[in-house]
Amino acid sequence: MCGIVGYLGNQEAAEILVDGLKKLEYRGYDSAGIAVYDGENSKILRSVGKLSELAKLVDTNQPVGVVGIGHTRWATHGKPCLDNAHPHSDCTGKFVVVHNGIIENYLHLREELIEEGHKFISETDTEVLAHLLEKFYDGDLVKAVQKTVATIKGAYAFLAFTEHEPDRLVAVREDSPLVVGLGEGEQFIASDIPAILKHTNRVYILNDGEMVDLSRDAVKLMTVKGEPVKREILTVDWNPEMAEKSGFEHFMLKEIHEQPEALRRFLTGRLNEKGVHLEELNFTVEELRKYSKIFVVACGTAYHSGLVGKYVIEQLVRIPVEVDIASEFRYRSPLIDKSTLVIVVSQSGETADTLAALREAQGRGARVVAFTNVVGSTIAREADQVLYLRVGPEIAVASTKAYTAMLMAFYIFALYLGQIRETLGSEDLAKAVSAIKEIPAQIEKIIVNNEEPIKQFAERFTQFEDAFFIGRGVDYAVAMEGSLKLKEISYIHAEAYAAGELKHGTLALIIEGTPVIALATQKSIYEKVLSNIQEVRAREAWVTAVALEGDEEIKKSADHVLYIPDTLELFTSILAIISLQLLAYYASKLRGCDVDQPRNLAKSVTVE
Ligand code: M6R
Repeated sequence: MCGIVGYLGNQEAAEILVDGLKKLEYRGYDSAGIAVYDGENSKILRSVGKLSELAKLVDTNQPVGVVGIGHTRWATHGKPCLDNAHPHSDCTGKFVVVHNGIIENYLHLREELIEEGHKFISETDTEVLAHLLEKFYDGDLVKAVQKTVATIKGAYAFLAFTEHEPDRLVAVREDSPLVVGLGEGEQFIASDIPAILKHTNRVYILNDGEMVDLSRDAVKLMTVKGEPVKREILTVDWNPEMAEKSGFEHFMLKEIHEQPEALRRFLTGRLNEKGVHLEELNFTVEELRKYSKIFVVACGTAYHSGLVGKYVIEQLVRIPVEVDIASEFRYRSPLIDKSTLVIVVSQSGETADTLAALREAQGRGARVVAFTNVVGSTIAREADQVLYLRVGPEIAVASTKAYTAMLMAFYIFALYLGQIRETLGSEDLAKAVSAIKEIPAQIEKIIVNNEEPIKQFAERFTQFEDAFFIGRGVDYAVAMEGSLKLKEISYIHAEAYAAGELKHGTLALIIEGTPVIALATQKSIYEKVLSNIQEVRAREAWVTAVALEGDEEIKKSADHVLYIPDTLELFTSILAIISLQLLAYYASKLRGCDVDQPRNLAKSVTVE
């Protein structure tokens, strides 16, 4: 959701900016631009559509200069077009800004500025920032930014440059992420770490209400009121290759294939002979024993991981678990107090609704544990405890490796609680731990065995506009994730139903040839699911089943079977989803869709 990159140093800025913006493509955008200062003027280049358009412009215009700012825009105020693309400048062209988020009082400010004689070119809220800087500037960009911040309302981050002080970049953060990358005689700033990872892994993460004053040899962090801020440098342990495609055609395919390795990394040091060992969580035993209820709050795929988590925690720990969509949770006055533990789940750690839900829960006295991937993200910093997913940067908009790591987080968190609350005997615990250790290799096997057949029959999916996913128990939760994956990247309308619920209405939609993906991995309710598959078969649906190895019976009811290795019933979700991710990927690719950046979607949803 919009991306900011800034550079100040001794290298050509244009190349660094465009390259950094490419690493932020996953956030979603519809136009892009850069401004580079050549010693006399700021050259602004902007384009609509993909970054390749901006790269062409840069090739043709060859902007020269060692300081610049860049942006990918995801339209909120004003349609995606050249005039609305960032960077924006003031009337004199001496102040340039790029901005993420929303300036809520921009209309009123715009009218005031117009009355004062300022000329506006775009429909954006961003342009008021450039004119406010022009209005407030009296020789010090930091002061002009502070006065601007005092005037605006909203949730935003912006980065400003002025030709009056060409050796300085100033940025401010209020509810939209910003990371400063520290170099030798050069500094970087961006919305997310992958944009600067090639140049440095030493970063400062800005907090809300903070700003940064960058020069080649100094980085000054301060509050927007000017009070100095001391911050530890964070050393990021991702390497630049982790943010590249490594020979795969799309990031999504690479990330699907990375899952075994990512899960091994997730598990490192977290399992031992006694069971689960979560050093990073510092709950006391008394505290963990006192909770009488758990809430899981998240959005999208992260929410789906919570639906699986509910089954796992309720079975293993016998505590009631409620799962809520974050945008609903925050407005429904949830019944939580000190005896409630809230788990928020977010790959990015920046999702606005999840963050608001976290604050809502803390405001009501609950302790919050975050399962998140991004170290230093806002959710990671504000949660009381954090369990990191450790999957490395997830670039494709469709979440895959973060989802399986979220599932793994629920598995081991449930075992951890079960250990402490003594709802799990040592034998069951040992069985569960040994099943978990096998999961990465089992995923490898699924990819090797199923990818080719999926490629073949995904071809048939290119003709359909609707598909149904059915399952019971944990399989139902996985069906929801499989359905979301298919619809978000292939644009095939897909619905997930609890298999037993079909006959209460949806069965009316099943006709000859309708694709139905049936999950049948739960031994305890296997016969029931088989009956539900028969119901759709009787209406001549085209059935693909996901079943356990050795299940020959299912072949009588399904046109295709995608097998997964056997594991404990509660853990099949992490294996079953792999084939559904691959199916969504190949359906999207064969339909000619933009797999990594589906239309209208953004990786990091930082607005409500
Ligand atoms: O970064 P988060 O995990 O908080 O993101 C939540 C959702 O926006 C995200 O899972 C979304 O549903 C994905 N596009 C699904 O693939």
